Amino acid sequence: MDSLVDTPTPRIAGTTAPALVVRSILAGIGGYLPERVVTNAELAERVDTSDAWIVERTGIRQRHIAGLHETCAFMAAMAARAALADAGAEPSDVDAIIVATATPDQAFPSTAVRVQAELGCKGFGFDLSAACSGFIYALSVADSLIRSGAARGVLVIGAEVYSRILDWTDRTTCVLFGDGAGAVFLRAGEGSGAASDRGVLSTHLHAQGTMGDMLYVDGAVGRHDRPGHVIMNGREVFRHAVTLLSETVAEALAANGLTQADIDWLVPHQANLRIIDGVGRKLGLPPERVVVTVDRHANTSAASIPLALAAAHEEGRFAPGQLVLMEALGGGLTWGSALVRL
Ligand code: ACO
Repeated sequence: MDSLVDTPTPRIAGTTAPALVVRSILAGIGGYLPERVVTNAELAERVDTSDAWIVERTGIRQRHIAGLHETCAFMAAMAARAALADAGAEPSDVDAIIVATATPDQAFPSTAVRVQAELGCKGFGFDLSAACSGFIYALSVADSLIRSGAARGVLVIGAEVYSRILDWTDRTTCVLFGDGAGAVFLRAGEGSGAASDRGVLSTHLHAQGTMGDMLYVDGAVGRHDRPGHVIMNGREVFRHAVTLLSETVAEALAANGLTQADIDWLVPHQANLRIIDGVGRKLGLPPERVVVTVDRHANTSAASIPLALAAAHEEGRFAPGQLVLMEALGGGLTWGSALVRL
């Protein structure tokens, strides 16, 4: 494969053109949602909750819950196929697959290689674990692979089956999550390196392991007594979310010499409408420029941002050249942001 980095600067009659750099172009977006929709009212038949409480505290009205055939790998492959079709790309254009997930079907092989087999791609693939920030982390790694010349086409997928790690008797967590998968296909392209160029402009990743007990799953492969359930101190997570997310959004803008006014779309992790509104308000963005799917999808963890991208794309809301800011925070704590020019 040709090197993609540091294309030599062309010299024209005494002038120096800006150096061309490799950019990760967001070439295609796709999503998959399980067939079964579970409303708040249905949940209220199983646990002591109500539609009114859930809507008021979270903005969630329904979630999709995976059937037995809708495994993490199945949904990831469906979303990936849709992203490739959207990009007009073939499986042979894929050099690498990264699946962000906290709910793989198996410890190994990775969900990514299951997707590779299903789609008939070559190259390499691996799963990445960063909870609800997983998609931002995966996008960042994929962008590095493309910029370094290690890959020209990367499928970045967020896929989750949280319904299998929820304690369905715990009303403080089970009402918050849903299942699904979203994917983007990144393709190497060249630009001058200015913020006006298309593609991933920058990504910013953070982690604070000392806050690991705020949101975690109390089981894993080594735990045979039970598979593990989501345990969360919701108030503490909420308290940190708006502050840390606003900080990482500010650093993304500063790194690119941009201001809030330059942002066309905020596509936040879809955990809770109050967190989304809080960050939007701090940014001074009107609600119509914030993509919200938490009402329909609930919190699908690593899948939530690509699913929100897919929904907005399907609705024809995006236009080439627009600036999209993404941010997420989740277990770890992990958090981060990504700025992408469509
Ligand atoms: N239905 C009815 N009542 C409930 C429910 C429910 N589903 N869940 C909790 N309650 C009750 C509580 O028991 C409590 O009752 P009490 O006052 O008698 O003790 C009361 O409601 C208030 O509980 P709080 O936990 O204080 O409610 P809060 O307003 O903080 O909302 C929530 C809880 C929605 C979880 C909120 O803290 C939150 O959104 N936190 C962010 C967490 C999050 O989104 N995590 C997702 C993963 S991380 C991420 O993606 C960012």
